[in-house]
Amino acid sequence: MSIKLSDLGSRQKPSDITRLMTIALERPDMLSLAAGFTDNDSLPLLDIKSIVDEIAETEAEGKKTLQYGANVGRAGLRSILTKRIEASDELGPDALSDDRMFVSNGSQQALYLAIQTLCNPGDCILVEQPTYFVFLEILDGLGVTPLAMPMTDEGEIHVEGLKGLFAEWQAADELHRIKALYMVSYFANPTGHSVSKKVKSEIGAALSGLGTTIAVIEDAAYRELYYEAPHEARSCLAIEAYADLPVLYTSTLTKPYASGLKVGFAYCTDDTWLASMLTVKGQQDFGTANFAQAIMERALENGLFDGHLEELRAIYKNKMETLHAAFEQELGELGWSWPVPSGGLYLWLRSPNGVRTDAESEFHEACIAKGVFYVPGDLCFPSSRIQDFIRLSFGTLAPIEIQRAADRFKAAASSMTYSASQ
Ligand SMILES: Cc1ncc(COP(=O)(O)O)c(C=O)c1O
Repeated sequence: MSIKLSDLGSRQKPSDITRLMTIALERPDMLSLAAGFTDNDSLPLLDIKSIVDEIAETEAEGKKTLQYGANVGRAGLRSILTKRIEASDELGPDALSDDRMFVSNGSQQALYLAIQTLCNPGDCILVEQPTYFVFLEILDGLGVTPLAMPMTDEGEIHVEGLKGLFAEWQAADELHRIKALYMVSYFANPTGHSVSKKVKSEIGAALSGLGTTIAVIEDAAYRELYYEAPHEARSCLAIEAYADLPVLYTSTLTKPYASGLKVGFAYCTDDTWLASMLTVKGQQDFGTANFAQAIMERALENGLFDGHLEELRAIYKNKMETLHAAFEQELGELGWSWPVPSGGLYLWLRSPNGVRTDAESEFHEACIAKGVFYVPGDLCFPSSRIQDFIRLSFGTLAPIEIQRAADRFKAAASSMTYSASQ
């Protein structure tokens, strides 16, 4: 007798990346440029030990952190996080309200809650192409259709093209199916691209003029992981054109501090949406781990977070430059290309002459044979027809291993034939 799952349960497909990672893990000699893991050596173990010691100094207060906390998250942490957005967005104090901020189990949970409370199966979400592939998996799992926005060669959303699509959907009475626009606005996964100030404002204006409410989900997971300077654009929370739109801004303390603590956060400008997400969160977990939040609250309060982040920026800059320099000449001569990011954890490579890089391709096989592993770029496109990109993550490997992984990658690339007919 086989179990009968719900529609949602039956719709679930094993994640592509989990399948690929399992293959990689079976080969202990494999160097992975695939997973978006963070730098291992610098993980702030001693900082956290000192914070835990501090927490334990006062027994009653310390024990409270080991008790359940509020569904919405710790008041102190929410206030710090709200102020951090105000500072990044150059807003005055109290421009944003702590009441609109909630702490989540990673920003991944906030993204899931956002779609779960906004969309029915068959509804649509506008996404960049390429986009964060685990977000596409959320949509797939919930039966929601991703609609690719037109993009420029520079990786910006093509606003005029988008407006053209809005007009077509409006004429066909289809616009109501589009529930939100999702953008990874800073040092994006997978491209490293940040949405410009101009494009962001134009998108807000285009959405505001529609006469149908399309919410905005701004995923700012990598906003603080710039190498030299923050990106110029303020968030949608601080741009006038978004003032009348429901905006959910999500970000995280995992990538810039300790991914294992899994503390993320979200700020929502719409009361109804926020209340619904919080109710569902209450059903899921009635609160993100209070102890992990207490650690993060202290780290933010006492400057350990910012000190660590400063260190991480230099580490990731160095890792990115190591990988880029290892590739520049040889891959460049073979016709591979990639933008050089100024933040984030990824290089986004395009193969020459459309050489396929998907999981079924000869190139993918060549890389596995050489002992290096990557995320096939097609996973990041809402339709998988684009098969000549690769996402490489330089987050977790040490620079010496990055060098070795790059050598293996180059050996695989050199073994390919690049005929113009591909
Ligand atoms: C663009 C983006 N958004 C959200 C997340 C979720 O991260 P977390 O749940 O650790 O906050 C990730 C993780 O890789 C990501 O790349």
